[in-house]
Amino acid sequence: MAVAVAHPNVALVKYWGKRPGHGNVPATPSLSITLDGLTTRTRVDAAAENSLEINGERRRDAKVAGLVAALREEFALPAMRVTSCGNFPVGAGLASSASGFAALVTALDETFSLGLPASARAVWARRGSASAARSVFGGFVALDPDVGAATVLDRDEWPLEVVVAVTSDAAKAVSSTEGMTRSRDTSPFYGAWMHSTATDFDDACRAVHRRDFDALAATAEHSCLKLHALMLSTRPGLLYWNAATIDAMRAVRAMRDAGTPVFFTIDAGPQVKAVCLPAAAATVADRLGELAGVKRVMRVGLGAGARLVEG
Ligand code: DP6
Repeated sequence: MAVAVAHPNVALVKYWGKRPGHGNVPATPSLSITLDGLTTRTRVDAAAENSLEINGERRRDAKVAGLVAALREEFALPAMRVTSCGNFPVGAGLASSASGFAALVTALDETFSLGLPASARAVWARRGSASAARSVFGGFVALDPDVGAATVLDRDEWPLEVVVAVTSDAAKAVSSTEGMTRSRDTSPFYGAWMHSTATDFDDACRAVHRRDFDALAATAEHSCLKLHALMLSTRPGLLYWNAATIDAMRAVRAMRDAGTPVFFTIDAGPQVKAVCLPAAAATVADRLGELAGVKRVMRVGLGAGARLVEG
């Protein structure tokens, strides 16, 4: 048996849409930061029959089953017991599936001695959920559909902080997988999204290499708002925000206008992640925590990639 931990990641340049065909390959490149503090811990044991338990509940999960079936086409795997728990809500736009699949593949690789390097674990994690490929790595991580996932800058080379403003603990109504299929099929903006994302990715990678916070802030907020414009233009429209989401975005913009180095990003859910320089994190957390609709704030740094831990 083996136990692995992994953290969620938040994309600064978003992906939304897959390449046609197999393998769950994103259509466009993305750039993320892996988050510390929020953690999924997954144990894999060889067992008499297959079972999956998430946060203490026995579950069936089509994506986990699909990933294990795909692995079985390449490796002779026995039946297994998978036990996973996380210290944050599942399915609420906090990338629980990303940390979940990164930890699962890492534990499975060790339990069954598959000998997979991190780049190959990322390919398998991507089969479960595309953004999970990024959680295999730490710090600033690029996921290029043609090249795979890799760290572009280590977390200690530019130790940003993230204040997560939780505005709802409810699971999202439309999953990312379903939402992006709908956007591809119905949004008149999908072509523009596909064409413009590579430029955002190049700009953001350059900003990260130069540690240029203002340039990264501009590109990341643009990518986030463009993603949500795409979602809104889908039929039926995908509206993941609530009133507190918008209040938090405005508060972040007001802080930045007043000179605080902070920008927001939001995924397929109502939580606002405020990315800032470490010196600003306490102010940002206090300000967002004061907003009426914000249930709580979490302050996290940048995290390491998926790794084995002692059972
Ligand atoms: C908005 O990776 O969760 O967070 O591969 O279908 O599981 P599936 O989708 P997923 O989509 C993530 C979408 C996003 C943007 C991003 O993380 O790049």
